Amino acid sequence: IKAEESLQKNMPFPMGAALNVSLLKSNSSYRNLIIKEFNSFTAENAMKFASVHPAKDTYTWADADYLVDFALANGKRVHGHTLNWYQSLPDWVKNFQGTTADWENLLKTHIQTVVGHFKGKVASWDVVNEAVNEDGTLRSTIWLEKLGADYISRAFQYAHEADPNALLFYNDYGHEYSTTKRTAIINLVNDLKSKGIPIDGIGLQMHTNITQTDANLTAAITTAAATGLKVHISEIDISLNPANTPGATYTDALAEQQAAKYKTIVKAYNVIPKNQQFGITQWNVTDGDSWILSFYKRADWPLPFDAQYQRKAAYQGILDGV
Ligand code: XIL
Repeated sequence: IKAEESLQKNMPFPMGAALNVSLLKSNSSYRNLIIKEFNSFTAENAMKFASVHPAKDTYTWADADYLVDFALANGKRVHGHTLNWYQSLPDWVKNFQGTTADWENLLKTHIQTVVGHFKGKVASWDVVNEAVNEDGTLRSTIWLEKLGADYISRAFQYAHEADPNALLFYNDYGHEYSTTKRTAIINLVNDLKSKGIPIDGIGLQMHTNITQTDANLTAAITTAAATGLKVHISEIDISLNPANTPGATYTDALAEQQAAKYKTIVKAYNVIPKNQQFGITQWNVTDGDSWILSFYKRADWPLPFDAQYQRKAAYQGILDGV
């Protein structure tokens, strides 16, 4: 593929990346790459609860606005992430005391203020993120504790009221490695649909690695598509060093295995119905800025671009999937 070509021009569905706002502001190689290669952006952290709503009556929009303005100025779609997650909660929420009605009001106010702020600019939202455990039960979060299982339906209704045009997603990880979790998530979204809750799509994070089987990766996508909802591969990265092996290095052999896994995923995604293909979003941009390095404190090379902003074999793997 020629240098002037790109993922967004060559792929038949939107291609996205999760962006770090400080790199976006400071690094022109990063900016040039994302403008060229992608047509959809997600905020890696800038729209999370603790980022935008650090105190009860305080909203801080600067970073999220910067990302949204940058995206729209460059003609990109913005996917919102995320309105409800058990992580990224500010202390004021953890310490909040109140009745069930007060908690309902807290959740509603947060969701409607954030969705309302970006109305007409952010096309879609991960409304609820990571609500299900691997054993299929609901994760015991502050929201489950204070509001019961119904918090999930409420979150979707609140978001829909604030922006009836936004597409609303349930987002989670593990579809490819836990059939129990996958089944629970599929049951959850089907239940929401049958109750008339406004849900448009299902996000498969797909934080995976080269030891994952092609059959499992494909089954995750096929099963999600069988709901009839839109499917977003929302946070893909394919680890080459999942076991954090001491002295691990990036080799051509690993690069080829990674390319093959990217291809498998794209191939499975490419055959679901067109109107269900919301797109594929990678979590971060290059092997230099991947969250895996800092979050898991290990050497890794999970993305289609290397730390020098060059295309890897994985990039060709993506193109080969269609
Ligand atoms: C991660 C970010 O990449 C990190 O910078 C942050 O410290 C923690 O969150 N699933 C999700 C994302 O839905 O929001 C997470 O992002 C990665 C896992």
